[in-house]
Amino acid sequence: MPALVLLGAQWGDEGKGKATDLLGGSVDYVVRYQGGNNAGHTVVVGDQKYALHLLPSGILTPECTPVIGNGVVVDPAVLLSELKGLNDRGVDTSKLLISGNAHLITPYNVTLDKVGERFLGKRKIGTTGRGIGPTYADKINRVGIRVQDLYDESILTQKVEAALDGKNQLLAKLYNRRAIEAGAIVEEMLQYAEQIKPFVADTTLILNNALDDGKVVLFEGGQGTLLDVDHGTYPFVTSSNPTAGGACTGTGVGPTKISRVIGILKAYTTRVGAGPFPTELFDQDGEDLRRIGGERGVTTGRDRRCGWFDAPIARYATRVNGLTDFFLTKLDVLTGWEQIPVCVAYEIDGKRVEELPYSQTDFHHAKPIYEYLPGWSEDITKAKTFGDLPKNAQAYVKALEEMSGAPISAIGVGPGRTETIEINSFI
Ligand code: GDP
Ligand code: IMO
Ligand code: MG
Repeated sequence: MPALVLLGAQWGDEGKGKATDLLGGSVDYVVRYQGGNNAGHTVVVGDQKYALHLLPSGILTPECTPVIGNGVVVDPAVLLSELKGLNDRGVDTSKLLISGNAHLITPYNVTLDKVGERFLGKRKIGTTGRGIGPTYADKINRVGIRVQDLYDESILTQKVEAALDGKNQLLAKLYNRRAIEAGAIVEEMLQYAEQIKPFVADTTLILNNALDDGKVVLFEGGQGTLLDVDHGTYPFVTSSNPTAGGACTGTGVGPTKISRVIGILKAYTTRVGAGPFPTELFDQDGEDLRRIGGERGVTTGRDRRCGWFDAPIARYATRVNGLTDFFLTKLDVLTGWEQIPVCVAYEIDGKRVEELPYSQTDFHHAKPIYEYLPGWSEDITKAKTFGDLPKNAQAYVKALEEMSGAPISAIGVGPGRTETIEINSFI
């Protein structure tokens, strides 16, 4: 049976948590493959609302095994507090598996993320300040600390000392901070080791065996396509690969096993942090989208920047991820507009451009060219089938599908598990 990838098609916060949770009932494993606790995935089950940062959204489905893959960066303190928060609410988290090859976010990398941003001043990325960038930098620089290092004190000590050698020079001489003592870091990390140990496993072996046994595995991306370090709006990106290829490198499951790639697509666009955003609104419409859509960051509490739907972005996501389906979310938020602008192409230096430009300079200069689609005023939150939607809402969805290059197989009409119109089955 198949492996499926579910990922963000825009700049994150498309509703991945809800979509993963919805599919959780039909899959055996839900696997995070990149990112860390920079993610903020909201899942609403009945009258209960959960905000997950590091744990896969499948953790809320008892039949499902949640997995943190090798491509994820794990802050052990956050992991334990997120587990405790769920346990306190009666959620059983004992099935969780964590790759021994996942890298650990250490306190010095959280510090470096924050002081690094401060140092950049007005050129800052607007990171979540969770230590994500410095931890991936250490991984690539081969001075990272992995989950498995927690179980060999001598290796852990050597690695922390090696990592801190250079960083303490930076902290003291460039950032004017006190040096960090390796012994204190090792001691703190060792405190977490025993509590994490029951979850640590060879997740690559387990997932490949599961697929061979006909089990269904769902890979859940954090962030979104345009925050990808290779394919996003660099440098205003996160430091990992949320795009579909990341599901393979971040779990050790080969691309031949993946049969479906589902892009989660918001019916309009949002972004948190700095960087270009052609359809961004600075007027009452932007305020209204933010208010009606509840567009406030789950991780940092920052207001999200809001704008109209951008078709070149959706087409780009289809292309770089090989999307087979879209899950369109938050259609209900657009109820009440007389007409809804949709960006169909850009004007760049006086020329019409149909696709996302590869040049960062061009993308910074891109102005949206809008088509105006007729709106609807009827409440759509109770719609169960496509036919239940008002004609203009149906036409809006069909127009987006036409422009985006992959079928829209589900539509979100509210935050709850059941507030979804399923058009084509995913599994
Ligand atoms: P994620 O990071 O992609 O998981 O998305 P977030 O959880 O950060 O943000 C999506 C927000 O939209 C959350 O508050 C969800 O509860 C909510 N949401 C998801 N789907 C829908 C939908 O179809 N309609 C409405 N109104 N809200 C939705
Ligand atoms: P989910 O999974 C939206 C953004 C940050 C910043 C940039 C780099 O909820 O969609 P980082 O801390 O990752 O180094 O910050 O990436 N960012 C997100 N924006 N949703 C997210 O996650 C994000 N995770 C990171 O705002 O612009
Ligand atoms: Mg989010």
